[in-house]
Amino acid sequence: MQTVMVIGAGLMGNGIAQTAAMAGYQVILVEQTEELAKKGLASIEQSLGKLIRKGNISEEDKQKVLDRIRLTTDLADGKEADLVVEAIPEKIELKRDLFRQLDLLVQPDSILATNTSSLSITELAAVTKRPDKVIGMHFFCPVPVMPLVEIVRALTTSDETFQKAESYARQFGKQTVVAKDSPAFIFNRVLIPMLNEAAFLVYEGTQPEDVDRTMKLAASHPIGPLELADYIGIDVLLDVIQSMYEGFQDPKYRPCPLLKKMVEAGRLGRKSGTGFYSYGT
Ligand code: NAI
Repeated sequence: MQTVMVIGAGLMGNGIAQTAAMAGYQVILVEQTEELAKKGLASIEQSLGKLIRKGNISEEDKQKVLDRIRLTTDLADGKEADLVVEAIPEKIELKRDLFRQLDLLVQPDSILATNTSSLSITELAAVTKRPDKVIGMHFFCPVPVMPLVEIVRALTTSDETFQKAESYARQFGKQTVVAKDSPAFIFNRVLIPMLNEAAFLVYEGTQPEDVDRTMKLAASHPIGPLELADYIGIDVLLDVIQSMYEGFQDPKYRPCPLLKKMVEAGRLGRKSGTGFYSYGT
């Protein structure tokens, strides 16, 4: 039985843990505190509950999936993992620190994957002594539902690691595309500037509802850009556009000042109850 260690039990981490456990892997889910780990597990239980109501899985299946997930606050509990998927916040200094620790802890053959949306995989690989075994596995939200993983090769990633990462993604039930290790890869390179531009429209005085209705009715988008921004998290969106701005050194990616103000005010979208819209809690 293979083991996957998932680090961070937030929006993405708990989805990745659920997906791996549903595919039959033993999962070690690591968080900063027990409380946050339990919160992540509660989201997984909720998501599995939805699948039961839809008739996709049974109560027994749900229990089996939950039994495969072990919560911990100690990275060392995952030192035997075959695959590590990191899903902590989008801050390069945090991820660099974590990769340094992982490299020392986890068995030398294991693959260290990051779910980063925009940071350099090559830079993360370079802080380890196994740069050939570091790769990007960029999942989409909600992870159990979205069928794609972007596989991002660092300059140093070996063919073997690339093939193994593709194979893990397929065993998780996902399709893959191969992205270059440049800021924001494929999906976010196209999407994030659109969300930033939608925020600029609001910053200049357009109503969020008008921006979203326009994109839904005129471009057939299933969800408006500002609804999507609230769903992704305004802090995550700001981090990604900021790293595109810095990575490409191009003014076209300048973060909208409204996003900065919203993060300062704690208006982070759905997860905080307010973003471009308000959500009853
Ligand atoms: P989040 O803020 O919901 O979750 C991050 C979690 O990591 C938090 O629960 C935090 O307590 C935990 N954490 C922080 N440091 C830790 C450590 N050292 N050890 C263990 N846990 C730690 O963030 P989210 O949205 O899940 O994003 C995580 C990563 O996934 C980021 O790199 C983001 O760019 C990427 N991503 C986000 C997507 C989204 O739609 N939100 C989509 C695809 C990728």
